[in-house]
Amino acid sequence: MIEVRNVSKAFGGVIANRDISIDVAEGQITGLIGPNGSGKTTLFNSIVGYHPVDSGSIKFKGQEIKDFRVQDIARLGLVRTFQQTRIYKQMNCVDNMLISVPHRRMAWGDMFGRQSSDEMERAEHLLEFVGLYRKRLLAAGDLSFGQQKLLEFAMALMNEPEILLLDEPTAGINPTLINGLIDRLKRANTDFGITLFVIEHNMRVIMNMADHVHCLAHGELLASGPPDDIQNDQRVIDAYLGAH
Ligand SMILES: Nc1ncnc2c1ncn2[C@@H]1O[C@H](COP(=O)(O)OP(=O)(O)O)[C@@H](O)[C@H]1O
Ligand SMILES: [Mg+2]
Repeated sequence: MIEVRNVSKAFGGVIANRDISIDVAEGQITGLIGPNGSGKTTLFNSIVGYHPVDSGSIKFKGQEIKDFRVQDIARLGLVRTFQQTRIYKQMNCVDNMLISVPHRRMAWGDMFGRQSSDEMERAEHLLEFVGLYRKRLLAAGDLSFGQQKLLEFAMALMNEPEILLLDEPTAGINPTLINGLIDRLKRANTDFGITLFVIEHNMRVIMNMADHVHCLAHGELLASGPPDDIQNDQRVIDAYLGAH
């Protein structure tokens, strides 16, 4: 579904991604791991059109998208979440859901009056899916950090993505909620058919989720393969040990 070929991206003198080539297969959960600063978020930003790449090619369903803008890429069905949550803390969960659909964002003045009952229904259904239905009318800022992550995930689903790029969805969440979140991510994949591409710092989490894993280190692709192979790959183990 996504084909990244020979992509490089530098910030001044820092080469954040060097000659990266990876694939993300349709219908699967693909993991992107690597120590802090290894270039994971930069690669996501390149794929979603947040910044231009210095060289290489990025295709989505066969179409070259490296020169597309963020909005155009989102409209194709490629949606991402951020390492930091991007919710409006003073607004309630349902309203956050409603403004997360791009055309809503443009019709800002309309949103409190005339949202379609269809979208309202979808918002409530998805809040139920992530376990936040009872909290739907609370200000998002009053949710726990983990619940805010779940809300953000539900907001991404409002866009009806074909593929969802998740940047460290479990970061800062307590272990009990992590299992619930992993379960929801897997169900979004199996029940809704959404392809997932997930950045995860926690090896255990990604090993229990992904069909295929890519590992970056120092901006370069270190290894790709099934979770079991990656977990036992000495280069990957060394990269993680070396990082701490
Ligand atoms: N906007 C930016 N400006 C300058 N340097 C950046 C920027 N974004 C990332 N970097 C640098 O690129 C490298 C990779 O960062 P990043 O992609 O965020 O890594 P990761 O997500 O794996 O932790 C780091 O050295 C980081 O400091
Ligand atoms: Mg990052």
